[in-house]
Amino acid sequence: MKKWQKSTLIVTWIAACIVISVIYCEVKRLDQMRSDTMESDQKKRSNRSTVLTTEKQTSLENPTMQQNTEEDRKAVFEERRKDPLLLLVNKSHPLPETYEVTLATLPDGHQVAKVMYDDLEDMLADAGKAGCSIIVASAYRTKERQEQLLQQEIRKNMRNGMDEKEAEEDALLTVAPYGYSEHETGYTVDLVAAGNQMLDDTQETTKENKWLQKNCAQYGFILRYPKEKEEITGYSYESWHFRYVGKRAAQDITSDHLTLEEYLN
Ligand code: DAL
Ligand code: ZN
Repeated sequence: MKKWQKSTLIVTWIAACIVISVIYCEVKRLDQMRSDTMESDQKKRSNRSTVLTTEKQTSLENPTMQQNTEEDRKAVFEERRKDPLLLLVNKSHPLPETYEVTLATLPDGHQVAKVMYDDLEDMLADAGKAGCSIIVASAYRTKERQEQLLQQEIRKNMRNGMDEKEAEEDALLTVAPYGYSEHETGYTVDLVAAGNQMLDDTQETTKENKWLQKNCAQYGFILRYPKEKEEITGYSYESWHFRYVGKRAAQDITSDHLTLEEYLN
């Protein structure tokens, strides 16, 4: 073999080696890329499966949590319904036949449940310090007195031109039949401004009523028949009718804009 032929062979061989190395490296690189992609996909799948597992666990846990919450909720309502201060008396809940209350007499002669006496006196005294002169217009009522008030209201309506049925229906929007009035529990007072003793829409314009509506919950009272809750309470808005329920319930009911019906059910 001639010398130039030998050199050409060596060069060709080196070139072939280089080409083979380049091809080998490229194949390796592509292989690595493919395996990286597969690994990443697998991680994603694995993450998704963790998420799904967690979601599944959470959804499995949720019913238990919901159940607990539901049970807790029921227990709270049951506890509330057992509280004598939260006795519900309305059109569908008459005063229990066995109901008894210990009364105390206010300086003006009205009677209220003894249990609320001090809080009522504190409220009236603090209202006085704030420049509000408040009068108790009505408090505990016997069933006879409640019946008398209902009949009076019916007669007034008839004098104003209503027939008997109409007069009674209208009266029942503002006066409870005996056996169904909160006034018979001793836990209720009708409070009016000394300067305006009307039980009508003008009462809420007095500074006394504004003070009461703002502060009564601190003393354990709620506005029992609020505006826009007539469907729930069964009675027209009465800015003067305050019901004692104890301080904690009064604050919860007032801050959540509830009625006693909603607080108990
Ligand atoms: N005014 C309220 C509803 C009552 O008569 O008890
Ligand atoms: Zn009242």
